[in-house]
Amino acid sequence: MTQLAIIGGTGLTALEGLEITHKQVLPTPYGEASSPIIHGVYAGKKIIFLPRHGARHNIPPHKINYRANIWTLKELGVEAVIAVAAVGGIHPDMQATDLVIPHQLIDYTYGREHTFFADDLAHVTHIDFTEPYCEQLRQQLLIASNTLTTKVHHQGVYGATQGPRLESTAEINRMERDGCDIVGMTGMPEAALARELNLCYACCSVIVNPAAGRGLKEITMADIEANLSLGIVNVRALLTAFLNQ
Ligand code: HPA
Repeated sequence: MTQLAIIGGTGLTALEGLEITHKQVLPTPYGEASSPIIHGVYAGKKIIFLPRHGARHNIPPHKINYRANIWTLKELGVEAVIAVAAVGGIHPDMQATDLVIPHQLIDYTYGREHTFFADDLAHVTHIDFTEPYCEQLRQQLLIASNTLTTKVHHQGVYGATQGPRLESTAEINRMERDGCDIVGMTGMPEAALARELNLCYACCSVIVNPAAGRGLKEITMADIEANLSLGIVNVRALLTAFLNQ
């Protein structure tokens, strides 16, 4: 069976229902991963789990060592990665607690270590990123989602912002004009690094707030947390359905 890793985002620092078998720390040429790698059994299947923001949820999006995380997963023989990410909804149909399996992305991040192909190169390498997500894994997630009552959007354009602050209304307006449907802070460089190492990578986004200027009021952490605790139930249901396929 394909070795699967789940990268947990905000609200998924611990994967409830995961029976942990052991934890492992691997040295990487890029420093330390966000946390020890967690090996365990979820929905009856062996998986690897990595909380992106650290086991104590204290690593902000722009400080995450994306290279160490992806490198570690590759070293452990991972072939497929489901990346869970909390996002804001830009498209009017994309409402809090809905899930989105994005098919495209736009990268607005800066200053992050974003490639493995930087130093000591035998030759310059340009990876293809026409389709930034693994379509096979995306389709498997969509098939699994058919068994759920949760609203799961089958596609969407993920705009990756630098954070840790949220966006201004004008920034969201620009992102909407660019074609973004959802906005989050961790989608890149994670997706590109996974592609550089030939990992099949798809994202399960959970909407936790209307993006800036799209709701009736300011975005508060309390609102985000309330939506997250409902939305994460949907994420767990999708992961379980996916693993039971
Ligand atoms: N913007 C960026 N990242 C986010 C948001 C948002 O509104 N909500 C959750 N992650």
